[in-house]
Amino acid sequence: MAGGQGTRLGHSGPKGTFDIGLDSHKSLFELLCDYLKEEAAKYNVQIPWFIMTSKENNHDTIEFFKKHKYFGYEKNIYFFTQGQLPMIDTEGKILIGEDGLIKEAADGHGGVYESLLKSGMTDKMKELGIEWVFIGGVDNCLVKMVDPVLMGIAIDKHVTAAGKSVVKANPHEKVGAFCKKNGKPSVVEYSEITDEMAEATDENGELLYGESHILCNLFNISAIERMGKEPLPYHSAFKKATYIDKDGNKVVPDSPNAYKFEAFLFDAFGEVDDMAILRVKREEEFAPVKNASGVDSPETARKLYNDFYKKK
Ligand code: UTP
Repeated sequence: MAGGQGTRLGHSGPKGTFDIGLDSHKSLFELLCDYLKEEAAKYNVQIPWFIMTSKENNHDTIEFFKKHKYFGYEKNIYFFTQGQLPMIDTEGKILIGEDGLIKEAADGHGGVYESLLKSGMTDKMKELGIEWVFIGGVDNCLVKMVDPVLMGIAIDKHVTAAGKSVVKANPHEKVGAFCKKNGKPSVVEYSEITDEMAEATDENGELLYGESHILCNLFNISAIERMGKEPLPYHSAFKKATYIDKDGNKVVPDSPNAYKFEAFLFDAFGEVDDMAILRVKREEEFAPVKNASGVDSPETARKLYNDFYKKK
């Protein structure tokens, strides 16, 4: 999934084109592609790579791949574009964008299922004989897309979806955690649980809500088809949005002024009866690039990436 706006990072291009500052100065896209090429060689198989863009960054993403000759992986790369939803101001009025049309923004990573279906990618996958699809974010430079263990666990447990987790760094870490809601797999946000729930432990002394969801999930095609047909709830986010006011003037706000609506990928988990969860090591599989500095920044991701590949 590479359709996000990356507002926290503040990079002007698509997030996948971001250079985290390694000696090689490779972009996130190239790091992920290097990994896929390595795994394809290891297992002697073709590993197709389906890249979700948004209307906002589709052109720049494809131009970037063209410029870099698709990193030598062209015949395995497929692009598809996610959906959009209108943005509204604080009074609930729809905004007009600079092109004179309704201002829209990407519909969140939860848009992935519907877009896979609508763009014909699930048909393409079936044509290629694909049964299992790993879905992850472009902004995790250690994302382990090819994982026979995760797939094996899903098959062994007879489930059509599986997810990877890392243990929460502390009970109050600001991450979503895998859980069950009304008996169905789900993710509960840190803001949705009380302190007591956050600190609750099981008989082994492990946190009850301690398995963080890291946006690394595996789905059977049948699960994607089911999830893509169900509407997901929208979550609102207050963002800065340039618009045209009623007098036709362009307004560039310097603080958030508008709501965008996003679906979350994990809101669809309840469509399957159960999910297998595999706990992995943070330092081996999770190096997110979210913020320009501090936690989950290029600096922390670079260190995790270098440490991991040095040990390998
Ligand atoms: P985030 O939720 O971190 O969003 O996305 P973001 O857009 O990258 O960053 P902020 O919140 O604006 O700072 C996690 C992953 O989901 C993808 C992102 O590209 C990233 O890989 N994503 C997110 C999409 O593909 N589409 C979306 O609409 C939102």
